Amino acid sequence: MIKKCLFPVAGYGTRFLPATKSMPKEMLPVVNKPLVQYGVEEAIEAGMNTISFVTGRGKRAITDHFDISYELEHQIAGTGKEAYLEGIRDVLERGIFTMVRQREMNGLGHAILTGEPLIGGEAFGVVLSDDLCITEGDGVLAQMADLYKQFRCSIVAIQEVPAEDTPKYGIIAGEQLKEGLYRVDDMVEKPQPEEAPSNLGIIGRYILTPDIFEILRTTPAGKNGEIQLTDALLTQSRQGCVMAYKFRGRRFDCGSVPGFVEATNYVYEHIYAEPE
Ligand code: UTP
Repeated sequence: MIKKCLFPVAGYGTRFLPATKSMPKEMLPVVNKPLVQYGVEEAIEAGMNTISFVTGRGKRAITDHFDISYELEHQIAGTGKEAYLEGIRDVLERGIFTMVRQREMNGLGHAILTGEPLIGGEAFGVVLSDDLCITEGDGVLAQMADLYKQFRCSIVAIQEVPAEDTPKYGIIAGEQLKEGLYRVDDMVEKPQPEEAPSNLGIIGRYILTPDIFEILRTTPAGKNGEIQLTDALLTQSRQGCVMAYKFRGRRFDCGSVPGFVEATNYVYEHIYAEPE
């Protein structure tokens, strides 16, 4: 039912400098696949075949990755190496890729508002591809799309985070409706532990209803002078309803070096299989 998924990929990725000086952080490979491809596969698996990138300067490698490379195809056609391209060929066949550029990096909320022309008036998924989510069975977005059918409101994915880590997350508070599902009534962007309303941190998977655009348009700059999605979601939770969902699965924070290394080891040991 949800057909589109927005990928804000315009950020600078400063925590990975110098690797990200001229290469997008989303193209860093976890073993042999760029981070962003994991997210795109998760979206397509959830039925969201239109993949919309909010990109920026220096990010062309991402849109090139989701296009045919004629030279490469020509070179390896008929050789055993074709097996290495099977995964990405499948993604290209199933997905439609659109993009818009965010000219100024004014925050995640601003990036999402920049994506409005690609989304229009329907509910949509959002993936922050530096959060790599590994699940058994349905992916995180598919789990959330299922919930959306029931609640028809914005949904954020959450996980319990250690108290000292609350300054890295948007933190929610709310009434628990059933195991792992909350109706949000408060949300704070990156609070100090003593100001955090709970230990439930938002991770990079969202389903948003399109009224979020109107809210973002009037949301003033918040923390770090950026337009914060968390602030807009708090408004949305007060005007209507926002749910928070403790997903089934494991998430790696690949925006940080330790999380990236952990993900690499995990994928290599448990998921990666060398093509024959
Ligand atoms: P981050 O806070 O992780 O920032 O953005 P970053 O620039 O990617 O990484 P660091 O902190 O400098 O290492 C969260 C997500 O929002 C996107 C980023 O690309 C990332 O997916 N984003 C952020 C934008 O697209 N535009 C912005 O203006 C800000």
